[in-house]
Amino acid sequence: MSIDKKFVDQFVKITSQAALASSYFVGKKDKIAADKAAVDSMRTNLNNLDIQGQIVIGEGELDEAPMLYIGEKLGTNKGPQVDIAVDPLEGTNFAANNLPGALSVIAISEKNNLFKAPETYMEKISTRVNEKNVIDLDFTVKQNIYNLSDYLNKNPENLTACILDRPRHKEIIDELNKLKVNLKLITDGDVSGALLVTEEKYNVDIFLGTGGGPEGVLAAAALDAFNCNFQGRFLFKTDEDKVRAKKMGINDLKKKYELNEIVTGDSIFCATGITSGDLVEGIEIQGNNFVSETLVTHKSSDLKKVIKLKQNL
Ligand code: FBP
Repeated sequence: MSIDKKFVDQFVKITSQAALASSYFVGKKDKIAADKAAVDSMRTNLNNLDIQGQIVIGEGELDEAPMLYIGEKLGTNKGPQVDIAVDPLEGTNFAANNLPGALSVIAISEKNNLFKAPETYMEKISTRVNEKNVIDLDFTVKQNIYNLSDYLNKNPENLTACILDRPRHKEIIDELNKLKVNLKLITDGDVSGALLVTEEKYNVDIFLGTGGGPEGVLAAAALDAFNCNFQGRFLFKTDEDKVRAKKMGINDLKKKYELNEIVTGDSIFCATGITSGDLVEGIEIQGNNFVSETLVTHKSSDLKKVIKLKQNL
């Protein structure tokens, strides 16, 4: 069973509409309003789709999120059963401050095929290398860089690593600097960061570091379609995090997840630009129309492309 290709266009429209809704708040210094606009749009439009959908990654649990909460059922209850992961506004700072890279993101899999990620941090690593034991979350940074360098036949000084610019990454960044690896430091937006390994044109060879767990699962869906590698390990700091993880069925709290344990079977991934960034251009209003750019993948039809769409406002 796979997800019918007809859904690709429908989901592109959903992230495009959510991106448009959020775009009205770009630069208004109001993260909450920018997020809410995208959430409302996405929820309304998902409810009109002929799917039997269930949110597996959303705005939080029922008690903290009235909309797009984990477990919420969406759709007309007529079509296929699907898991839905959403990040209606990925990069709330980017949108609030009119900075590059704000996206509206969704990933869909067949039912029970997308990991139900808790709202905690995740250690992540991603490359184009698909062989086992070349790049691994359990290797040191040095080992991974040497292996990548051998594998790609590039000296470390010709490799580029993408990582969130955070104090928690000081040791990794120091090590990368020692190895003379080029750095692409990002201030936010690690769904996009992880996806920069998918194509050589982005000039990123490895993405690593700790970011949001839900963002890790979303990126994994697209990386799967691009046949790239991804590993993730959740970090549960507080007792509350640990209890919540157990409630979600995670028993081994230190487990390293391979990509095929995070997303299995068929999937669709859509990321529409709100502001222009590395992957896609942002929303452009042209008279009574708006133009959106969406990076789309559909695993079973081997679709991986940017779709530009002009729609009525
Ligand atoms: P928001 O859109 O929720 O603000 O997330 C932006 C983001 O940069 C994610 O892409 C990333 O996974 C996470 O925040 C990193 O968290 P932190 O800012 O706490 O390091």
